[in-house]
Amino acid sequence: MERLFITDVAPRDGLQNQPVLVGLDTKLTLIDRLVAAGVESIEATSFVSPKAVPQMADAGELIPRVRTQHPGLRASALVPNMKGLERAHAAGAEEIAVVLSATEIMNLKNINMGLAQATDVSEQTVREAIRLGLRTRAYVAVAFDCPFEGPTSLDAVHTCVARMAEAGAQEIVIADTIGSASPGAVSERLTALLRDLPADRLAVHFHDTRGMAVANAWAALQAGIRRFDASVGGIGGCPFAPGAAGNLATEDLVLMAEASGYTTGISLDSLLDIIDFAETALQRPLGGRSVAWQRKQRSKIAS
Ligand code: HMG
Ligand code: MG
Repeated sequence: MERLFITDVAPRDGLQNQPVLVGLDTKLTLIDRLVAAGVESIEATSFVSPKAVPQMADAGELIPRVRTQHPGLRASALVPNMKGLERAHAAGAEEIAVVLSATEIMNLKNINMGLAQATDVSEQTVREAIRLGLRTRAYVAVAFDCPFEGPTSLDAVHTCVARMAEAGAQEIVIADTIGSASPGAVSERLTALLRDLPADRLAVHFHDTRGMAVANAWAALQAGIRRFDASVGGIGGCPFAPGAAGNLATEDLVLMAEASGYTTGISLDSLLDIIDFAETALQRPLGGRSVAWQRKQRSKIAS
């Protein structure tokens, strides 16, 4: 069976916007449990301004602990600029992700730079990370629609992807920041992007605002993509993108993949336990579209 490669972004995208401040030990337990569930790639944190995102202020403490506890894990850290890269490298991060939005205003709102400057800074950060021997990912955010500028042109996405590819980013992550993409749009955009880049250099990152994230993942899969971001329990959202809901839930993606004949290496049963744990930590109900059904199945099997 063919394998899909999943990066769980819950510790970063999932937690960055939560009203409850989550402690370092809880974050480390979340990561331990994801690793135990079979997740081999995790976006663990971000090195951003603690004023902008207080939840990620402990990134410098988290990365060394994760490196010690899980030496074989791909643990990535989002960095918006050279200062973020310096902090991530000093903490021992082995993989970073830059975030370039395909529109002017989204970049201004997210990282306080316009599109041209954000492109230059992302490029410079990727090149320096490669020089330092780190693995690199580059998000191209608002790749379908921007909450401030409306529909994003495919040309704008192409330009960002090309610049990040030229800089050498190993994985370019096409992101539906506000969860407005449709399977038709996903199919069209990825088919176009795959003419210029091989599938192993592209990944997708969907938010589930309109309940279409699984359908979008299927459209990406059909187009040839094998690398997916997802977040256990569907937790997530960018604080600077109004209207963005949680991410594609890892449990929905794994269920869809396995029911369709693909393997992921991730245990659904363990994911359900992690959702219970995260519900206690975040003090609210969590879970993707399939979680009620998955829980019922589990209790039927147990009884
Ligand atoms: P700024 O205010 O323009 O930065 O913020 P600055 O360069 O003018 O510096 C101001 C202060 O911030 C200085 O400190 C800098 O040292 C410090 P001061 O002298 O005042 O004490 N600073 C930093 N501190 C820590 N880490 C850094 C850093 N850089 C500067 N890396 C900045 C610019 C980018 C820092 C800010 O806007 C920021 O942190 N933004 C956060 C962005 C963010 O985390 N967004 C959410 C993640 S993106 C996302 O969720 C989308 C994604 O999931 C894909 C999708 O769904 O589309 C990836
Ligand atoms: Mg996101």
